[in-house]
Amino acid sequence: MNYFILLSVLATVVTGKSPRLKFIVHEPPRFHFNKPENYISMYHQEGSDTLYVGGQAMIYVLTFSDKKVVDMKIPAASDQTAIDTCKAKASPDEMECDNFITVLQKVNDTFIVCGTNAGSPRCWMLVNETVLTDVQGGGMIAPASHISPPFPSQKSINLPADGSLYSAMSSVGGHVGSIRRTFGSQKLLKTENIWLLSPQFAGASIIPASEKYKEEIYFFFTEFNKTARVDEEPYRARIGRICTVDEGGIKALLADSWTTFMKARVMCGAGNTQQQYNNMKQAVVLTAQDKRAGVMYGLFSNAWGRTVVCAYSIEDIDRAFSNSKLKGYSSSFSGSRPGMCERKGPSADSQNNIKNLGVIRYYPEIEDVIRPVGVNPLDLPTDDQITHAVADIVLAVNDEHYTVLYLGTGTCAHLCVKMMRVATCVTFRLESF
Ligand SMILES: *[C@@H]1O[C@H](CO)[C@@H](O)[C@H](O)[C@H]1NC(C)=O
Ligand SMILES: *[C@@H]1O[C@H](CO)[C@@H](O)[C@H](O)[C@H]1NC(C)=O
Ligand SMILES: *[C@@H]1O[C@H](CO)[C@@H](O)[C@H](O)[C@H]1NC(C)=O
Repeated sequence: MNYFILLSVLATVVTGKSPRLKFIVHEPPRFHFNKPENYISMYHQEGSDTLYVGGQAMIYVLTFSDKKVVDMKIPAASDQTAIDTCKAKASPDEMECDNFITVLQKVNDTFIVCGTNAGSPRCWMLVNETVLTDVQGGGMIAPASHISPPFPSQKSINLPADGSLYSAMSSVGGHVGSIRRTFGSQKLLKTENIWLLSPQFAGASIIPASEKYKEEIYFFFTEFNKTARVDEEPYRARIGRICTVDEGGIKALLADSWTTFMKARVMCGAGNTQQQYNNMKQAVVLTAQDKRAGVMYGLFSNAWGRTVVCAYSIEDIDRAFSNSKLKGYSSSFSGSRPGMCERKGPSADSQNNIKNLGVIRYYPEIEDVIRPVGVNPLDLPTDDQITHAVADIVLAVNDEHYTVLYLGTGTCAHLCVKMMRVATCVTFRLESF
Protein backbone atom coordinates (compact mmCIF):
# COMPACT_ATOMS: atom_id res chain seq x y z
CA MET A 1 0.00 0.00 0.00
CA ASN A 2 1.65 3.15 -1.13
CA TYR A 3 -0.82 5.72 -0.03
CA PHE A 4 -1.34 7.40 3.26
CA ILE A 5 -4.84 8.34 4.12
CA LEU A 6 -5.91 11.09 6.41
CA LEU A 7 -9.61 11.15 6.54
CA SER A 8 -11.31 13.47 8.93
CA VAL A 9 -15.02 13.29 8.96
CA LEU A 10 -17.47 15.30 10.95
CA ALA A 11 -20.79 13.61 11.39
CA THR A 12 -23.47 16.02 12.49
CA VAL A 13 -27.00 15.00 13.23
CA VAL A 14 -29.33 17.85 12.60
CA THR A 15 -32.15 17.48 15.05
CA GLY A 16 -35.56 18.78 14.15
CA LYS A 17 -38.70 17.55 12.52
CA SER A 18 -36.92 15.25 10.13
CA PRO A 19 -33.67 14.02 11.60
CA ARG A 20 -31.05 13.31 8.99
CA LEU A 21 -27.34 12.68 8.80
CA LYS A 22 -25.08 15.25 7.25
CA PHE A 23 -21.43 14.70 6.49
CA ILE A 24 -18.92 17.48 6.04
CA VAL A 25 -15.61 16.32 4.70
CA HIS A 26 -12.72 18.55 5.72
CA GLU A 27 -9.54 18.88 3.75
CA PRO A 28 -7.08 18.01 6.52
CA PRO A 29 -3.38 18.89 6.61
CA ARG A 30 -1.42 16.10 4.96
CA PHE A 31 1.98 14.58 5.33
CA HIS A 32 3.68 12.97 2.36
CA PHE A 33 6.55 10.56 2.74
CA ASN A 34 9.49 11.58 0.62
CA LYS A 35 10.20 7.95 -0.24
CA PRO A 36 7.75 5.08 -0.73
CA GLU A 37 6.84 3.29 2.51
CA ASN A 38 5.37 -0.08 1.66
CA TYR A 39 4.93 -1.29 5.22
CA ILE A 40 4.05 1.00 8.08
CA SER A 41 3.26 0.60 11.76
CA MET A 42 1.69 3.31 13.90
CA TYR A 43 1.33 4.45 17.46
CA HIS A 44 -1.08 7.08 18.71
CA GLN A 45 -2.03 7.88 22.26
CA GLU A 46 -5.63 8.95 22.69
CA GLY A 47 -5.95 12.69 23.03
CA SER A 48 -2.46 13.42 21.70
CA ASP A 49 -1.69 15.42 18.54
CA THR A 50 1.33 13.28 17.81
CA LEU A 51 1.36 10.22 15.61
CA TYR A 52 4.36 7.88 15.46
CA VAL A 53 4.79 6.08 12.17
CA GLY A 54 7.32 3.29 11.70
CA GLY A 55 8.69 2.85 8.19
CA GLN A 56 11.79 1.51 6.49
CA ALA A 57 14.76 2.26 8.78
CA MET A 58 12.92 5.37 9.99
CA ILE A 59 10.48 6.51 12.65
CA TYR A 60 8.40 9.54 11.73
CA VAL A 61 7.07 11.64 14.60
CA LEU A 62 4.20 13.67 13.14
CA THR A 63 2.56 16.44 15.13
CA PHE A 64 -0.73 17.66 13.73
CA SER A 65 -2.32 21.04 14.14
CA ASP A 66 -5.26 22.62 12.29
CA LYS A 67 -3.03 24.13 9.67
CA LYS A 68 0.03 21.96 9.31
CA VAL A 69 1.94 18.78 10.12
CA VAL A 70 5.32 19.10 11.80
CA ASP A 71 7.49 16.08 11.17
CA MET A 72 10.61 14.82 12.87
CA LYS A 73 12.54 11.79 11.68
CA ILE A 74 14.40 9.32 13.88
CA PRO A 75 16.76 7.12 11.84
CA ALA A 76 16.67 3.41 12.78
CA ALA A 77 19.12 1.66 10.50
CA SER A 78 19.89 -2.05 10.37
CA ASP A 79 23.36 -3.17 11.28
CA GLN A 80 25.39 -3.87 8.16
CA THR A 81 26.24 -7.47 9.15
CA ALA A 82 22.52 -8.28 9.39
CA ILE A 83 21.95 -6.79 5.91
CA ASP A 84 24.88 -8.73 4.44
CA THR A 85 23.74 -12.01 6.03
CA CYS A 86 20.19 -11.40 4.82
CA LYS A 87 21.27 -10.79 1.23
CA ALA A 88 23.67 -13.77 1.25
CA LYS A 89 20.83 -16.05 2.37
CA ALA A 90 18.76 -14.94 -0.64
CA SER A 91 15.84 -14.20 1.64
CA PRO A 92 12.27 -14.19 0.33
CA ASP A 93 12.79 -10.77 -1.16
CA GLU A 94 16.03 -8.84 -1.07
CA MET A 95 14.02 -5.64 -0.82
CA GLU A 96 13.04 -6.79 2.67
CA CYS A 97 16.67 -6.90 3.84
CA ASP A 98 16.40 -3.71 5.87
CA ASN A 99 15.06 -2.59 9.24
CA PHE A 100 11.30 -2.26 8.85
CA ILE A 101 9.75 -0.90 12.06
CA THR A 102 6.98 -3.36 12.98
CA VAL A 103 6.27 -2.47 16.61
CA LEU A 104 5.68 0.93 18.21
CA GLN A 105 3.98 0.49 21.58
CA LYS A 106 3.95 2.19 24.93
CA VAL A 107 3.88 -0.31 27.80
CA ASN A 108 3.58 1.29 31.23
CA ASP A 109 5.69 4.32 30.22
CA THR A 110 8.28 2.27 28.33
CA PHE A 111 8.14 3.09 24.61
CA ILE A 112 9.08 -0.16 22.85
CA VAL A 113 10.27 -0.05 19.24
CA CYS A 114 11.04 -3.25 17.33
CA GLY A 115 12.09 -3.79 13.76
CA THR A 116 12.82 -6.63 11.38
CA ASN A 117 16.54 -5.71 11.26
CA ALA A 118 17.06 -7.53 7.94
CA GLY A 119 15.77 -10.91 9.10
CA SER A 120 17.11 -10.86 12.67
CA PRO A 121 14.65 -8.72 14.67
CA ARG A 122 15.79 -6.19 17.29
CA CYS A 123 14.03 -4.08 19.91
CA TRP A 124 14.89 -0.68 21.34
CA MET A 125 13.43 1.81 23.77
CA LEU A 126 12.52 5.29 22.61
CA VAL A 127 13.80 7.67 25.28
CA ASN A 128 13.06 11.37 25.62
CA GLU A 129 10.88 11.09 22.51
CA THR A 130 13.89 11.09 20.19
CA VAL A 131 16.62 8.66 21.25
CA LEU A 132 16.69 4.92 20.51
CA THR A 133 18.54 2.90 23.16
CA ASP A 134 18.73 -0.76 24.13
CA VAL A 135 15.87 -2.03 26.26
CA GLN A 136 16.75 -1.88 29.94
CA GLY A 137 15.21 -1.35 33.34
CA GLY A 138 12.81 -3.46 35.35
CA GLY A 139 10.64 -6.19 33.93
CA MET A 140 11.40 -9.01 31.55
CA ILE A 141 11.59 -8.91 27.81
CA ALA A 142 11.34 -11.84 25.41
CA PRO A 143 13.80 -12.25 22.52
CA ALA A 144 12.98 -9.70 19.80
CA SER A 145 12.04 -12.54 17.42
CA HIS A 146 8.99 -13.20 19.62
CA ILE A 147 7.83 -9.60 19.25
CA SER A 148 8.71 -8.62 15.68
CA PRO A 149 8.62 -10.87 12.61
CA PRO A 150 11.88 -11.16 10.63
CA PHE A 151 10.29 -9.75 7.46
CA PRO A 152 7.67 -7.03 7.17
CA SER A 153 5.31 -9.09 4.98
CA GLN A 154 4.75 -11.49 7.90
CA LYS A 155 1.88 -10.24 10.02
CA SER A 156 2.28 -9.76 13.75
CA ILE A 157 -0.01 -8.18 16.34
CA ASN A 158 1.18 -6.38 19.47
CA LEU A 159 -1.17 -5.26 22.22
CA PRO A 160 -0.24 -3.61 25.53
CA ALA A 161 -2.41 -4.36 28.56
CA ASP A 162 -1.83 -3.62 32.27
CA GLY A 163 1.90 -3.03 31.96
CA SER A 164 2.54 -6.12 29.81
CA LEU A 165 2.95 -6.58 26.08
CA TYR A 166 1.12 -9.38 24.24
CA SER A 167 2.47 -10.47 20.87
CA ALA A 168 0.92 -12.75 18.26
CA MET A 169 3.15 -13.97 15.46
CA SER A 170 1.71 -15.45 12.29
CA SER A 171 3.12 -18.69 10.93
CA VAL A 172 5.52 -18.50 8.02
CA GLY A 173 7.98 -21.00 6.57
CA GLY A 174 9.25 -23.17 9.43
CA HIS A 175 7.75 -20.95 12.17
CA VAL A 176 4.61 -22.39 13.76
CA GLY A 177 3.18 -19.09 14.99
CA SER A 178 2.45 -18.15 18.61
CA ILE A 179 0.65 -15.97 21.12
CA ARG A 180 2.97 -14.75 23.86
CA ARG A 181 3.36 -12.34 26.73
CA THR A 182 6.62 -10.68 25.73
CA PHE A 183 7.30 -7.78 28.09
CA GLY A 184 6.44 -6.54 31.56
CA SER A 185 6.61 -7.58 35.17
CA GLN A 186 4.31 -10.62 34.77
CA LYS A 187 5.68 -14.01 33.75
CA LEU A 188 6.46 -14.38 30.03
CA LEU A 189 4.15 -17.07 28.61
CA LYS A 190 3.44 -18.77 25.28
CA THR A 191 1.04 -21.05 23.46
CA GLU A 192 1.84 -24.76 23.10
CA ASN A 193 2.71 -25.49 19.47
CA ILE A 194 -0.14 -27.99 19.03
CA TRP A 195 -2.76 -25.38 19.97
CA LEU A 196 -2.36 -23.37 16.76
CA LEU A 197 -2.41 -24.70 13.20
CA SER A 198 -0.41 -22.35 10.93
CA PRO A 199 -2.21 -19.25 12.25
CA GLN A 200 -2.43 -15.95 10.37
CA PHE A 201 -3.43 -13.22 12.83
CA ALA A 202 -6.19 -10.76 12.02
CA GLY A 203 -6.48 -8.72 15.23
CA ALA A 204 -6.54 -8.73 19.02
CA SER A 205 -8.54 -6.91 21.64
CA ILE A 206 -8.76 -6.49 25.40
CA ILE A 207 -12.14 -7.59 26.73
CA PRO A 208 -12.68 -5.60 29.92
CA ALA A 209 -14.61 -6.91 32.91
CA SER A 210 -16.14 -5.24 35.96
CA GLU A 211 -13.79 -7.29 38.13
CA LYS A 212 -10.22 -6.74 37.01
CA TYR A 213 -9.09 -10.35 37.39
CA LYS A 214 -11.70 -11.44 34.83
CA GLU A 215 -10.15 -9.31 32.08
CA GLU A 216 -9.35 -11.29 28.92
CA ILE A 217 -7.61 -10.81 25.61
CA TYR A 218 -9.17 -12.16 22.43
CA PHE A 219 -6.95 -12.98 19.47
CA PHE A 220 -8.50 -13.36 16.01
CA PHE A 221 -6.84 -15.56 13.43
CA THR A 222 -7.28 -18.00 10.58
CA GLU A 223 -5.86 -21.50 10.75
CA PHE A 224 -4.69 -23.36 7.67
CA ASN A 225 -4.65 -27.16 7.37
CA LYS A 226 -1.79 -27.99 5.02
CA THR A 227 -2.85 -31.63 4.75
CA ALA A 228 -6.50 -30.91 3.85
CA ARG A 229 -7.66 -32.77 0.72
CA VAL A 230 -8.34 -30.69 -2.40
CA ASP A 231 -12.09 -31.04 -1.90
CA GLU A 232 -11.84 -29.81 1.69
CA GLU A 233 -11.80 -26.24 2.96
CA PRO A 234 -8.31 -25.71 4.45
CA TYR A 235 -9.17 -22.48 6.34
CA ARG A 236 -10.87 -22.09 9.72
CA ALA A 237 -11.54 -18.70 11.31
CA ARG A 238 -10.83 -18.66 15.04
CA ILE A 239 -11.04 -16.72 18.26
CA GLY A 240 -8.46 -17.61 20.89
CA ARG A 241 -8.60 -16.11 24.38
CA ILE A 242 -6.42 -15.86 27.47
CA CYS A 243 -6.82 -14.20 30.88
CA THR A 244 -4.47 -11.30 31.68
CA VAL A 245 -3.97 -12.68 35.23
CA ASP A 246 -2.51 -15.92 33.82
CA GLU A 247 0.87 -16.72 35.42
CA GLY A 248 1.44 -20.14 33.82
CA GLY A 249 1.18 -23.68 35.15
CA ILE A 250 3.30 -25.86 37.38
CA LYS A 251 6.76 -27.26 36.78
CA ALA A 252 5.48 -30.51 35.26
CA LEU A 253 2.63 -29.05 33.21
CA LEU A 254 2.33 -25.83 31.18
CA ALA A 255 5.21 -24.30 33.14
CA ASP A 256 5.78 -21.47 30.62
CA SER A 257 2.47 -21.72 28.80
CA TRP A 258 -0.97 -20.19 29.18
CA THR A 259 -3.28 -22.09 31.51
CA THR A 260 -6.32 -20.16 30.27
CA PHE A 261 -6.01 -20.55 26.49
CA MET A 262 -9.17 -21.66 24.72
CA LYS A 263 -10.22 -21.34 21.12
CA ALA A 264 -13.45 -21.43 19.15
CA ARG A 265 -14.45 -21.66 15.50
CA VAL A 266 -16.01 -18.53 14.00
CA MET A 267 -18.52 -18.90 11.15
CA CYS A 268 -19.47 -16.21 8.66
CA GLY A 269 -21.90 -17.06 5.89
CA ALA A 270 -25.54 -17.61 5.11
CA GLY A 271 -26.92 -19.72 7.96
CA ASN A 272 -25.86 -23.35 7.75
CA THR A 273 -25.30 -23.37 4.00
CA GLN A 274 -22.08 -24.30 2.26
CA GLN A 275 -21.62 -20.64 1.34
CA GLN A 276 -19.14 -19.89 4.15
CA TYR A 277 -16.36 -17.34 4.43
CA ASN A 278 -13.60 -19.07 6.34
CA ASN A 279 -10.60 -16.79 5.91
CA MET A 280 -10.69 -14.00 8.49
CA LYS A 281 -8.46 -11.17 7.24
CA GLN A 282 -9.08 -8.51 9.84
CA ALA A 283 -11.07 -8.15 13.06
CA VAL A 284 -11.94 -5.16 15.23
CA VAL A 285 -13.80 -4.99 18.53
CA LEU A 286 -15.81 -2.18 20.05
CA THR A 287 -16.48 -2.55 23.77
CA ALA A 288 -17.82 -0.43 26.57
CA GLN A 289 -15.24 0.98 29.02
CA ASP A 290 -15.43 -1.61 31.79
CA LYS A 291 -18.15 -3.95 30.67
CA ARG A 292 -17.94 -7.21 28.85
CA ALA A 293 -20.33 -6.10 26.14
CA GLY A 294 -19.71 -5.03 22.62
CA VAL A 295 -19.44 -6.03 19.01
CA MET A 296 -16.72 -7.68 17.01
CA TYR A 297 -16.56 -7.01 13.27
CA GLY A 298 -14.68 -9.50 11.15
CA LEU A 299 -13.64 -9.09 7.53
CA PHE A 300 -13.72 -12.48 5.79
CA SER A 301 -13.00 -13.84 2.34
CA ASN A 302 -13.90 -17.08 0.61
CA ALA A 303 -11.97 -19.25 -1.83
CA TRP A 304 -12.99 -16.95 -4.73
CA GLY A 305 -11.68 -13.82 -3.04
CA ARG A 306 -15.11 -12.37 -2.30
CA THR A 307 -15.07 -10.32 0.93
CA VAL A 308 -17.87 -9.81 3.46
CA VAL A 309 -18.21 -8.40 6.98
CA CYS A 310 -19.87 -10.34 9.81
CA ALA A 311 -20.76 -8.88 13.23
CA TYR A 312 -20.63 -10.84 16.51
CA SER A 313 -21.85 -10.11 20.00
CA ILE A 314 -19.11 -10.21 22.67
CA GLU A 315 -21.72 -11.56 25.11
CA ASP A 316 -22.38 -14.52 22.77
CA ILE A 317 -18.65 -15.26 22.55
CA ASP A 318 -18.25 -14.94 26.32
CA ARG A 319 -21.18 -17.28 26.93
CA ALA A 320 -19.73 -19.90 24.58
CA PHE A 321 -16.32 -19.88 26.32
CA SER A 322 -17.97 -20.08 29.76
CA ASN A 323 -20.47 -22.84 29.01
CA SER A 324 -19.59 -24.91 25.96
CA LYS A 325 -18.41 -28.50 26.11
CA LEU A 326 -14.76 -28.95 25.21
CA LYS A 327 -14.14 -30.71 21.91
CA GLY A 328 -13.07 -34.31 22.51
CA TYR A 329 -13.50 -34.12 26.30
CA SER A 330 -16.50 -36.03 27.64
CA SER A 331 -15.87 -36.30 31.40
CA SER A 332 -17.52 -33.81 33.72
CA PHE A 333 -15.54 -31.11 35.49
CA SER A 334 -14.95 -31.59 39.20
CA GLY A 335 -14.78 -28.19 40.86
CA SER A 336 -14.09 -25.08 38.81
CA ARG A 337 -14.23 -25.06 35.03
CA PRO A 338 -10.85 -25.25 33.27
CA GLY A 339 -9.47 -22.12 31.65
CA MET A 340 -11.54 -19.57 33.60
CA CYS A 341 -9.88 -16.40 34.94
CA GLU A 342 -9.16 -16.83 38.65
CA ARG A 343 -7.66 -14.67 41.35
CA LYS A 344 -4.28 -15.89 42.45
CA GLY A 345 -4.66 -17.69 45.72
CA PRO A 346 -3.75 -20.68 47.86
CA SER A 347 -5.82 -22.96 45.60
CA ALA A 348 -3.32 -22.43 42.77
CA ASP A 349 -1.87 -25.92 43.03
CA SER A 350 -4.80 -27.86 44.42
CA GLN A 351 -5.57 -31.26 42.87
CA ASN A 352 -8.48 -29.84 40.91
CA ASN A 353 -6.35 -27.11 39.40
CA ILE A 354 -3.69 -29.59 38.33
CA LYS A 355 -6.40 -31.69 36.68
CA ASN A 356 -7.67 -28.57 34.91
CA LEU A 357 -4.19 -27.85 33.54
CA GLY A 358 -4.27 -31.27 31.87
CA VAL A 359 -7.68 -30.53 30.34
CA ILE A 360 -6.51 -27.20 28.85
CA ARG A 361 -3.29 -28.78 27.58
CA TYR A 362 -5.13 -31.43 25.55
CA TYR A 363 -8.63 -29.99 24.93
CA PRO A 364 -8.37 -26.20 24.48
CA GLU A 365 -11.02 -26.04 21.74
CA ILE A 366 -14.67 -25.52 22.61
CA GLU A 367 -17.41 -27.38 20.76
CA ASP A 368 -19.79 -24.42 20.28
CA VAL A 369 -19.34 -22.42 17.11
CA ILE A 370 -19.52 -18.60 17.15
CA ARG A 371 -22.19 -17.35 14.73
CA PRO A 372 -22.86 -13.78 13.60
CA VAL A 373 -25.58 -11.52 14.93
CA GLY A 374 -28.49 -11.65 12.49
CA VAL A 375 -27.11 -14.92 11.07
CA ASN A 376 -25.98 -13.42 7.74
CA PRO A 377 -23.10 -11.17 6.71
CA LEU A 378 -23.89 -7.44 6.78
CA ASP A 379 -25.26 -5.77 3.66
CA LEU A 380 -22.47 -3.66 2.28
CA PRO A 381 -22.53 -0.87 -0.28
CA THR A 382 -19.96 -2.51 -2.55
CA ASP A 383 -19.07 -5.73 -4.25
CA ASP A 384 -15.43 -4.65 -4.51
CA GLN A 385 -12.82 -6.51 -2.54
CA ILE A 386 -12.47 -4.87 0.87
CA THR A 387 -8.90 -4.62 2.08
CA HIS A 388 -9.21 -2.62 5.30
CA ALA A 389 -11.83 -2.12 8.00
CA VAL A 390 -11.78 0.25 10.96
CA ALA A 391 -14.65 0.61 13.41
CA ASP A 392 -15.37 3.44 15.78
CA ILE A 393 -18.15 4.70 17.99
CA VAL A 394 -19.02 8.35 17.58
CA LEU A 395 -21.14 10.47 19.85
CA ALA A 396 -23.37 12.66 17.75
CA VAL A 397 -24.76 16.04 18.84
CA ASN A 398 -28.10 14.48 19.71
CA ASP A 399 -26.25 12.42 22.37
CA GLU A 400 -26.76 9.15 20.55
CA HIS A 401 -23.90 6.81 19.93
CA TYR A 402 -23.39 5.54 16.41
CA THR A 403 -21.17 2.76 15.24
CA VAL A 404 -19.14 3.81 12.25
CA LEU A 405 -17.34 1.35 10.03
CA TYR A 406 -14.75 2.56 7.55
CA LEU A 407 -14.16 0.09 4.74
CA GLY A 408 -11.26 0.48 2.36
CA THR A 409 -11.27 -1.02 -1.13
CA GLY A 410 -8.63 -0.61 -3.82
CA THR A 411 -9.79 2.84 -4.85
CA CYS A 412 -12.46 3.92 -2.40
CA ALA A 413 -13.22 4.20 1.28
CA HIS A 414 -16.72 3.59 2.52
CA LEU A 415 -18.07 5.02 5.71
CA CYS A 416 -21.06 3.19 7.10
CA VAL A 417 -23.01 4.52 10.05
CA LYS A 418 -25.05 2.46 12.50
CA MET A 419 -23.97 -0.90 11.15
CA MET A 420 -26.06 -3.22 13.28
CA ARG A 421 -29.45 -2.16 11.96
CA VAL A 422 -29.49 -0.02 8.85
CA ALA A 423 -26.33 1.06 7.18
CA THR A 424 -26.11 4.56 5.74
CA CYS A 425 -23.00 4.53 3.62
CA VAL A 426 -20.94 7.25 2.01
CA THR A 427 -18.15 6.52 -0.44
CA PHE A 428 -14.92 8.49 -0.81
CA ARG A 429 -12.30 8.18 -3.49
CA LEU A 430 -8.83 7.64 -2.17
CA GLU A 431 -5.86 9.51 -3.42
CA SER A 432 -2.65 7.64 -3.91
CA PHE A 433 0.64 9.45 -4.14
C1 LIG B 1 16.74 12.07 28.74
O1 LIG B 1 16.57 13.32 29.38
C2 LIG B 1 17.08 13.37 30.71
C3 LIG B 1 16.72 14.72 31.32
O2 LIG B 1 16.87 15.76 30.38
C4 LIG B 1 18.60 13.14 30.68
O3 LIG B 1 19.12 13.17 31.99
C5 LIG B 1 18.88 11.79 30.04
O4 LIG B 1 20.27 11.58 29.93
C6 LIG B 1 18.22 11.68 28.68
N1 LIG B 1 18.39 10.33 28.20
C7 LIG B 1 18.90 10.04 27.01
C8 LIG B 1 19.06 8.60 26.66
O5 LIG B 1 19.20 10.91 26.19
C1 LIG C 1 4.28 0.36 36.00
O1 LIG C 1 5.23 1.32 36.42
C2 LIG C 1 5.15 1.67 37.77
C3 LIG C 1 6.12 2.80 38.04
O2 LIG C 1 7.34 2.58 37.40
C4 LIG C 1 5.43 0.45 38.65
O3 LIG C 1 5.33 0.78 40.01
C5 LIG C 1 4.41 -0.62 38.29
O4 LIG C 1 4.72 -1.80 39.00
C6 LIG C 1 4.42 -0.91 36.82
N1 LIG C 1 3.34 -1.80 36.52
C7 LIG C 1 3.53 -2.92 35.89
C8 LIG C 1 2.33 -3.76 35.71
O5 LIG C 1 4.62 -3.26 35.48
C1 LIG D 1 -6.30 -31.71 8.23
O1 LIG D 1 -6.95 -32.38 7.19
C2 LIG D 1 -6.73 -33.78 7.18
C3 LIG D 1 -7.41 -34.36 5.93
O2 LIG D 1 -8.79 -34.18 5.99
C4 LIG D 1 -7.30 -34.40 8.45
O3 LIG D 1 -7.04 -35.77 8.48
C5 LIG D 1 -6.63 -33.73 9.65
O4 LIG D 1 -7.21 -34.20 10.85
C6 LIG D 1 -6.78 -32.23 9.57
N1 LIG D 1 -6.02 -31.63 10.67
C7 LIG D 1 -6.60 -30.94 11.64
C8 LIG D 1 -5.68 -30.49 12.71
O5 LIG D 1 -7.77 -30.69 11.66
